[in-house]
Amino acid sequence: MKVYNIAIFASGDGSNAQKIIEYFKGSSTIKVVLVVCNKPTANVLNRAKNENIPSLLISRADFYESNRVTEQLHSYNIDFVILAGFLWLIPQNLITAFPDKIINIHPALLPAYGGKGMYGMNVHEAVIAAREKESGITIHLVNEKYDEGKIIEQHRCSISETDTPQTLAQNIHQLEHRYFPAAIERFIQNNSNGI
Ligand code: GRF
Repeated sequence: MKVYNIAIFASGDGSNAQKIIEYFKGSSTIKVVLVVCNKPTANVLNRAKNENIPSLLISRADFYESNRVTEQLHSYNIDFVILAGFLWLIPQNLITAFPDKIINIHPALLPAYGGKGMYGMNVHEAVIAAREKESGITIHLVNEKYDEGKIIEQHRCSISETDTPQTLAQNIHQLEHRYFPAAIERFIQNNSNGI
């Protein structure tokens, strides 16, 4: 039976990466085989080490001025790329190498509150400032523009009068941890013959 190999890209704490790694530990068809990171101090690197998953620290030159990252992914036989808090725009060479196989999670209900600069607390502050009654997460395919690829799934949470950007961030993180791993599994099952 074909095993589908996943690379997770992350720039920060990596709590989503952690949940994805844990979720697929028991899987015989999907394996997390690599963590890719652009920040030497990112906690996600510690998480990868603790989980005995190889990690790859990349530079802007690697990513934007060469095909080195794409070549590395091929050397690990990667089938799908998961962006879980990765803050750099994905270059065309990677999108071309993995067409409709790069999935991102955004902490808002795209197309609203997306695009360049819309990440982390910036998103939640804008949603609270706009007095939105709900927010949520968007799991989507990645193309060459920030947060504009085809939407795969969205999950919502209501916002109360007393919510702050901080409490909203906590609620959104819970949604992410609850729904992202299974959404990845469903997407891979629906977009690969044989599993
Ligand atoms: C998440 O909120 C995700 O929506 C966004 O980046 C954050 C990553 O958090 N893309 P973590 O590093 O997985 O804890």
